[in-house]
Amino acid sequence: MSPDLGLIVGSGLSALDLDVVGKEPVQTPFGAPSSQLLTVAIADHRLACIARHGVEHWIAPHRVNYRANVRALHEAGVRRLIGVNLVGAIAAGFEPGTLAAPEQLIDYTTGREASFGDGDDLETRHVDFTVPFDPILSGAIAAAAVDCGHSIRRGVYGVTQGPRLETAAEIDRLERDGCTMVGMTAMPEAVLARELGIEYAVLAVAVNHAAGRSPGAAPIHAEIEQSLTDGMARVTDVLSRLVPQFLSIRPKP
Ligand code: HPA
Repeated sequence: MSPDLGLIVGSGLSALDLDVVGKEPVQTPFGAPSSQLLTVAIADHRLACIARHGVEHWIAPHRVNYRANVRALHEAGVRRLIGVNLVGAIAAGFEPGTLAAPEQLIDYTTGREASFGDGDDLETRHVDFTVPFDPILSGAIAAAAVDCGHSIRRGVYGVTQGPRLETAAEIDRLERDGCTMVGMTAMPEAVLARELGIEYAVLAVAVNHAAGRSPGAAPIHAEIEQSLTDGMARVTDVLSRLVPQFLSIRPKP
């Protein structure tokens, strides 16, 4: 039986050394998820996984069917979920290639389907979102990174709408708000997981300095190209360490 730990992986999928051992087309009441329901083998465990931006065709962050993705994983038995995301680094000294396990988020997205409960026939749920990422899962991610010898940042993830990158002034504003990193996909994924009672945390990798933050004014896309492979190799390391540890400490109830 598959464990109740699942994955949503985003950009950089091809750089992530995932062993896909199964694929199954699935549907949900909210439509089709971004990819087939993948089964990935990590350290002798088989985990349900969705590729957030699809496998064959690229789905932009604002077009992802987050509800279908989270619902499909829930139907597959996932109750603890790790979202792998790329982010831009805002905080001083936060270098591309570094991992992060954010503790908080600020949502700047607009117009995304952010609840399962907005249909006429569905109850509206005012879920408690004071702490958006599950502290135990998030802490386990951070601990696994340290065990692997990788430094990992905590902090606040500002979720922007995309698909464009931000202006320097927008990043200044995010920094004033307290954001230490910026990405486009943790929301509404995190709140949808919360609505379904799934414990959710993010393993992020910074692949660039956020707009206006590069000390040498390096072009953002050049930074991404340079840091993606090493960053994703660190993610692979952490997952290989985390999955067996986490499942042995907190086996399926
Ligand atoms: N901004 C938003 N999303 C991102 C970035 C960024 O700089 N880098 C990777 N994802």
